[in-house]
Formats: sequence, structure tokens, C-alpha cells
Amino acid sequence: MNRSRFIFNLIALSLIVLLISCRTQDQKNSQIRLSEVWKFKTGDDPSYLTIGLDDSDWKQINVGQNWDNQGYKELDNFAWYRVRFSLPSSVKDISFLKDSLKLYLGKIDDCDEVYLNGKILGYNGITLTSGVSVPDSFNIEPSPWYKERVYVISADDERLLWDKENLIAVRVWDRGGLGGMYSGIPAIGMVDVGDYLESGHRNSTFAFDNGVAYKSFNVKNISNHVKLSGVFIVTAKNDFTAKEFFRHIIKIDLPAGAETKIFVEIPEQNESTTLNYIYKQKGSASETVYTDILPYILTPAVSENPRINGPEIIGARPGKPFLHKIPVTGKEPLKISIANLPEGLTFDSNRGIISGRVSNRGEYDVKITVENSVGKASGILKIIIGDQIALTPPMGWNSWNCWGLSVDQEKVIASAKVFVEKGLANHGWNYINIDDGWEIKGDSPEPKRDDDGNIRTNEKFPDMKSLGDSIHFLGLKFGIYTSPGPLTCGGYTASYQYEIQDARSFAFWGVDYLKYDWCSYGQIAKDHSLPELKKPYFVMRDALGEVDRDIVYSLCQYGMGNVYEWGAEVGGNLWRTTGDITDTWGSLKSIGFNQVKNAPYGGPGHWNDPDMLVVGWVGWGPNLHPTRLTPNEQYTHISLWSLLSAPLLIGCDLERLDDFTLNLLTNDEVIAVNQDILGKQATPVFIDGDVQVWVKELYDGTKAVGVFNLGESILDYKLLFNKAGLPDKVKVRDLWRQKELGSFEKSIIIKLPVHGVSLLKVSE
Ligand code: GLA
Repeated sequence: MNRSRFIFNLIALSLIVLLISCRTQDQKNSQIRLSEVWKFKTGDDPSYLTIGLDDSDWKQINVGQNWDNQGYKELDNFAWYRVRFSLPSSVKDISFLKDSLKLYLGKIDDCDEVYLNGKILGYNGITLTSGVSVPDSFNIEPSPWYKERVYVISADDERLLWDKENLIAVRVWDRGGLGGMYSGIPAIGMVDVGDYLESGHRNSTFAFDNGVAYKSFNVKNISNHVKLSGVFIVTAKNDFTAKEFFRHIIKIDLPAGAETKIFVEIPEQNESTTLNYIYKQKGSASETVYTDILPYILTPAVSENPRINGPEIIGARPGKPFLHKIPVTGKEPLKISIANLPEGLTFDSNRGIISGRVSNRGEYDVKITVENSVGKASGILKIIIGDQIALTPPMGWNSWNCWGLSVDQEKVIASAKVFVEKGLANHGWNYINIDDGWEIKGDSPEPKRDDDGNIRTNEKFPDMKSLGDSIHFLGLKFGIYTSPGPLTCGGYTASYQYEIQDARSFAFWGVDYLKYDWCSYGQIAKDHSLPELKKPYFVMRDALGEVDRDIVYSLCQYGMGNVYEWGAEVGGNLWRTTGDITDTWGSLKSIGFNQVKNAPYGGPGHWNDPDMLVVGWVGWGPNLHPTRLTPNEQYTHISLWSLLSAPLLIGCDLERLDDFTLNLLTNDEVIAVNQDILGKQATPVFIDGDVQVWVKELYDGTKAVGVFNLGESILDYKLLFNKAGLPDKVKVRDLWRQKELGSFEKSIIIKLPVHGVSLLKVSE
């Protein structure tokens, strides 16, 4: 291939990461799977890239998981990986296109340089042409730790040794946290014709209408010389029966660089279903297969009957502003009436909002009645005026998992409006929280504080007070973020030595919730001893105690020093127990299913926080994508967080709330498990291979039981009641489907999809 054409292809192919979502079949012999176990040495030396180096005394390491988990926990530095493999020219001969090779290395945390046979091949997923030297590859922002590394090279590149042994050496630099090569089965193989078909299916979500699930996305020919001519086949199969029930063939004729829209329209399903999109080029034996998962909706449509949703209990301090929008559902118009309001509170029946201040301590049983043309419902809301707030886990939205540092005032207001307009507020969702990114940047020439030392906001937040007022006007609560250090994690101005002044600004703006994130306090703390870990949190607790508002205090320090043992002592209403979550099964699984030791410490007023939700469109801003969790994984996420009594903070772009995500977040029976007033965190009662059974005791004496399948195959699982600590004879309700399953003796058989869950309510 001529050099310029090759460079074009190389750039095009580097831009995409086809290997994440597609696999090429029937081309086995033109793909070489590299070993998962590589040679490994910590430190850094130029000789480590050379072919001649004797690495027989190097350690072995699995490239499927980070080095921290393999005995190198404290290694935030350089290390090298090496692997040898032979490259028979038959690989090239049997391939369809014969012109380029791709090397797939999985993900690398944080940065890498890759050497092929002693010569630089590329860095951080960017391929270099032969002879070009590597730029400073270890000093780039943001860190490319989450990026799949694919290197593409011409088949006649001088760095390849056909029919000989080849050596790949990878120089890795970890700047902190987890490190190393960590996610894949490395492979090298010929670029196939299907690799030039870029499919946008991951960037579009299904909508549902009249029993049909549909979506559209573009497919593009990203080559500049190969014409794509063949068929694109959409198939759907039920995961439990393994039966294909749908097949639709679309003709593809795409000149180089062209794209076309694919419409997928499939009958709506009510259980786990896998879609395959198969591309077959005319004349080629190989096919490229992209896997997609059809979302399935479990929560029944909201009933027309009036219903009062949680929380059933609210705590507030004497004399502090009180605000509560009563969550009710049912056919509009709904008329809400209230009896027994404590002195100091009033009820705005048009907006369904209780507000005011109550001076006298005490427990007040407020009677709520809601009526419409279909019927009437009533219930008691217990208001406790005392020392404790956050008596049930906070529920709301936070800007971080979607917008990251690109959050602005319009996005925050838009989210608050969606809470009301799409009805989320009617199911109990009420906090609207700004995360990092509202302050002046630490390296900006602008003053960070005004002449009186009050913290200034950046141009994206021109008027924090009016933002707070607008959120309150909707009956919602307002949250904000800062750090005890001089800077936030994102490098913005934070509260060190201005704690009281900042608490006063927050109160003036009407803040109801503060996330206090350790970040640069690491430079201030002498060490990680318990007194040093607690110190900054005491300081802000005292500052918040002085202002005229109830401010939910959210500690964020990633679980250091077993924070769950002392988070309540420093005034925390919740505390993060882990590092940051991301939208992958690996992250969800390792965080969610490890919330065990902290269980006894969670409870009304003080909750363990395994981090925010990763459903819907996320991306840590400004570019978002639909969560990479499958529908089954998302049911697992919400079920587990509900069982754990975890704070529920939606982390997605609410303006792009798709049907599935809205449905997932508005199941009142599932939310009721999270908001149960006993506030007792679930624990795993037993683990049986891939199945984990978590049980949460509820206030009404019943139990919520989550049966999770962490494995890679579907299961018909027989849950033995005695193993789960349940009575022999029980009644079982499926909470996602809101349906009685009946009475059972000794056991029940449950269908569990891959990474999926069955969430049950069990009573005697
Ligand atoms: C840390 C926190 C995140 C988020 C960012 C903001 O990483 O754990 O939740 O608040 O800081 O910079």
C-alpha cells in the first residue's frame, strides 16, 4: 500500500475501537491470540525494549487484570511487559484484504509506549509510522487509562518479522491508583474487510412504542479504498430458549467513506434478549458480528389509581427551613390534602409542597390524602424534628457521571425540570446536585474569591442564589460540592481555610446537600492516620452546624481508614466507601458486591455510599454515551443499590432519558426497598458459585431478597429457603414486575439472565 493511503487508513482505524464491540468470525487463522501471561519487570531501563535481552528471570503477569491485584499494590511508577510470538505468513495469505495488521492490547492504566522488535510502534493507542520517534507519551491529560489500545500497521512494515519470532515490549507508566495492562486477551491479526464497517449502534438507544422496540444508527465505511458490498443482518434471540425469533437482512453498498442509516424494529420482549448485527462482504468467507442487547421493560405502567410514594419519614432540625414535595402518582388532576401539619409548616396544594420551619422538637404524624376521578389513597408521613436528617437514603441527581467538569447552570436547571416534567419527583427523586466544576479554576488568573474572601463561581454559574431558588421553587433540593483541600479533584478552587465562609455562602445560596471531597487535602494532611483523616471533616461539620440550614453532609474520601467506622462520628450523613465507579460490569461488580463489612454501620441518618448510578447517558462530560452496562446489569445495579440502602444519585443526562432508563428509575416497589424506614443494609446470606443471595430486612417484617447471577451463563436457579434464612412456607412477590408469584414451600425456581437479578419480596 502506498504510504499516504496507509497513513490515512491508520488514522481512521486508530480512531475507532472496533474490537470492543465486534468480533470477526471464520478468520481464526488470520488472527493470533497472544498469551495472557506476559513477562513483567518493575522499573525502567532502555534495554527492556531490545530483542536480545534475556528476560528469563522476569516475573510472570496476567494482562487480564491490573498489577495492583497481582502483588504490586503500591506501584505508581514504571514497569515493562514483554511477550514473544511467531508470525507465519499464512496469516496474511488466507486473509481477504492482505494489506494491514492490527495489534490489540486491551486497556492500559495509565500510559504506554509499545515496541515491536525493538522499534517504537506507538503510544497510548496511537500508531507511529516506522522511523518516527515517540513524543512525550506520559504527560497527557486526561489520562488514557480507559482507552482500548489498538495499533494498526502495514503488512509490509519493516518492523514486522514474517515467519520469525517477534517481540512486543510495552513500557507502562501508572500515575496513581490502579495500574498496568488490565482488560483483554491481546491479539494480532490481519485487518478484515468488516473492520472498515464502523457501526454506531452503541451510540443510540431503543425507544418503545405499541409493542415495538426500535432504534436507528449509522454504519460507515471508514476505509478510503475498499468498497463495502454485502449484507447487514439483524438477528434477535431469546437468551433463555436460545431461539432466534427475528432476522432481517439489509443490503449494504457503501463506497469508501460513505455511510448509511440502519433501522432496527423488533417486537418488544419481556426478558433477556441478545441481538446480533452481522456484516458479510460479498466474496469473503468471514463475517463481522456486533452484539447488542435489547432492553426489556419490567416495571408496569404507572396506575391511574392515586398513590402516595416514599419517603414515609423525614427528619429536620428545629427552626431550620423545611421543604418537601409530596411524591404522588395517578391520573391527573390529583387533589392532595393534608391534616395534622406541625406548627410552622404550610402546604401549597397547587404545587404539592410542604414548607416552613418547625421550632418544637417532636414526632408529627402528618396525614396525607390524595384523590382523583378514579379513587382515593391516604397515608402517614412522619416528620421528626430533632437532631437527625437524611432518615432515608438521599435520592436525586448529580452532574458528575454525565457532565464531569463541563457542567453549567443550564444543564442543572434542565435536570431539575426533567425531575418534575417526566415525573421522577413523583417517585421520590428530589436532590439536584452540582459536582465539581462550578468554582474558578485553580490555575486561572481570575480572583478565586471576592475582596471579602467569599468564594466566586465561574462564568458557567452566573447566579448561584437564583439557581438555588429555581430548584426550590420546583419543590426540589439543591446540592453542591467542594473539597477540604486548596483545590478540588478537578483542579478548581476549594475550601481549605475558608470552611466557615464557604458554608455561609452555601447557606446563602440555599444549599441542602454538600459533597466534601478529600482530593488535594492529601497535601495538607500529615499522614493517613485516623486523626488526620477525620480532621477536615470535623472542621466542615462544625461550619455547617453554624448556618441556618439543614445540609446533608456527604463525605467523599474513597473509603480511606474504614470511613464507615467513623463517618457518623464526624457528622457524615453518607460516606463513599470506594473509588469512583464507571459504567462497566467489572466496576459495578467489584464495588457493589463488596459492600459487606460496612453493613452494620449504615442506617437512618448515616449511609454507606458505593457511588452514584451509571445508567442512562453518561460520559463524565462533555461527550456522552449510553451506559455500557447491559439491561440485565442495570437491573442488578438498581436492585443491589436498593438492597444496600445506598444513596441513589442518578448520574445521567436527564434530557436524554430513554424509555428503558426512565422505567428502571420509577419502580415504586423497588424504590420502597431502598427507602425502607428501618434502614437496614442487606448482607449476602449465601454465595453458591456464581449466584449471590442478598437479604434485606424491612420495617414491615418482610424481607427483600436479591438473587444475583454474576456468571456468564443463564441459570434456572433453585433457591432453597432454609439456605437464605427464610421460613419454609412463604409468599413471594416479584418487585420489578410488581406481581405476586404465589406461595411456595421450601424452594422456588428462578430464571436468572447473565449478570441479572431477581428481586423478590418474601413474607410469611
Ligand atoms: C472525585 C470524586 C468524584 C467526583 C470528582 C470531581 O474523583 O470521587 O465523585 O466528585 O472527584 O472532580
